[in-house]
Amino acid sequence: MQARRIQFLFLSFLFLLKYPSRARSLDDEDVKRSHFPDGFFFGTSTSSYQVEGAYMEDGKGLNNWDVFSHIPGIKPFVTIHHHDIPQELVDRYGGWLSPLMQEDFVYFAEICFKSFGDRIKNWITMNEPNLLVDMSYIRGWYPPAHCSPPFGNCSAGNSDIEPPIAMHNMILGHAKAVKLYRELFQLKQGGSIGIVGFAEYFEPLRDNEFDRQAVSRALAFTNAWLFDPLVYGDYPAEMRLYLGSALPIFSPEEINYVKGSLDFIGMNFYTSLYTKDCIHSACISGWDRPIRGFVYTTGERDGEPIGGRCGNPRFFVVPEGMEKIVSYMKERYSNMPMLVTENGFSPPQQNDQVQALLQDTNRVDFHKSYLAALARAIRNGADVRGYFVWSLIDNFEWIDGYSQRFGLYYVDRRTLERVPKLSAKWYKKFLANGTTDHSNEEDLTTRSFGNTILGSEASKAAI
Ligand code: NOJ
Repeated sequence: MQARRIQFLFLSFLFLLKYPSRARSLDDEDVKRSHFPDGFFFGTSTSSYQVEGAYMEDGKGLNNWDVFSHIPGIKPFVTIHHHDIPQELVDRYGGWLSPLMQEDFVYFAEICFKSFGDRIKNWITMNEPNLLVDMSYIRGWYPPAHCSPPFGNCSAGNSDIEPPIAMHNMILGHAKAVKLYRELFQLKQGGSIGIVGFAEYFEPLRDNEFDRQAVSRALAFTNAWLFDPLVYGDYPAEMRLYLGSALPIFSPEEINYVKGSLDFIGMNFYTSLYTKDCIHSACISGWDRPIRGFVYTTGERDGEPIGGRCGNPRFFVVPEGMEKIVSYMKERYSNMPMLVTENGFSPPQQNDQVQALLQDTNRVDFHKSYLAALARAIRNGADVRGYFVWSLIDNFEWIDGYSQRFGLYYVDRRTLERVPKLSAKWYKKFLANGTTDHSNEEDLTTRSFGNTILGSEASKAAI
């Protein structure tokens, strides 16, 4: 047996020496054209669509692949400035307190338009300038942490004077970027451009005329502070009245490009608050100042919250506020196109068991109720084009760090594993079925918005 085996191996060895592997002999073979018959065709292959490009040049019409290959699998809405700016610019000239920041913002925006404008068709210049200015220059909670008493105890700043200056520079920076986009890019790239404000709605704290007037002042000092200049070319009359010379003036040339400098209004909407008049009534120090419009805002009346509580103590679940803010913006700005660019829920802190966080029925209920209110506003004629959930995934909530969880996806902070919450599954089904009914998780098709499609396949991202 052993001898036969050795004999077999020996013969195999001789065979390999005499006949090397077939693949090797082909590689080495010196193939020549003469090995092919006369008249044999040799060439290279290509096709016009795969090499030419210039799909819309020289009078060419659209073909089926032009149309098909330009359908996006997602439509990004890109925010150019979402809270953070280079520290270098703060150190050099004070960031948004300086007019120099306008030019640097435009410089960055131009790079974005040039580099991504072929793919990005929806631009948002800035996220929540009105909130940023409040947090950074009135309260001093966000960098550069500027404030003055009684608003806060900061090492620098002036809460009465600096906020309108920073806001003015942001508005001019936005308007200059829009001017540039419209002059050099918009026609060629076919996109649209707008800005996002932090939107809040207000209800009178007490059932009296003073607190009702305080509602309209609060709306002016939050929402209209940003949008009035961009639509009408100047700050709200109430702000001029109360802030006087502290409110910067737009030059005629600036008005030309500030007025009308948006294709759509973006609103991040979470909450409503109560307003209390501080002109005729005593208020907590700070709220009785011109920069606050002499309005105290609070989420509680006699200890009772205006709506369900959230992780952020200034946020409450008040779905009807969605309908009201949209209607207010519709009336004030002649129903120009609107987008709800953020709306979301973070649960109160006590609820930090993983299972409870994953079974986030409170978030599902939140979105259902806010969407229903939004749908009512749309049925009443509001031109709202989109709705974006804040947020896709649990993230870093600025000064609250990782204590807030707004995500549809849960993030395990140790392993970084991402797990879809109930709300992620619900939103997916909602988008697929066009319904808000969540009474039975398995049957989401019973109530429909008709033709209204909300929260399409769009996403919002900041560069
Ligand atoms: C506002 C801001 O745009 C975003 O950065 C923040 O995390 C959410 N809304 C929640 O507060």
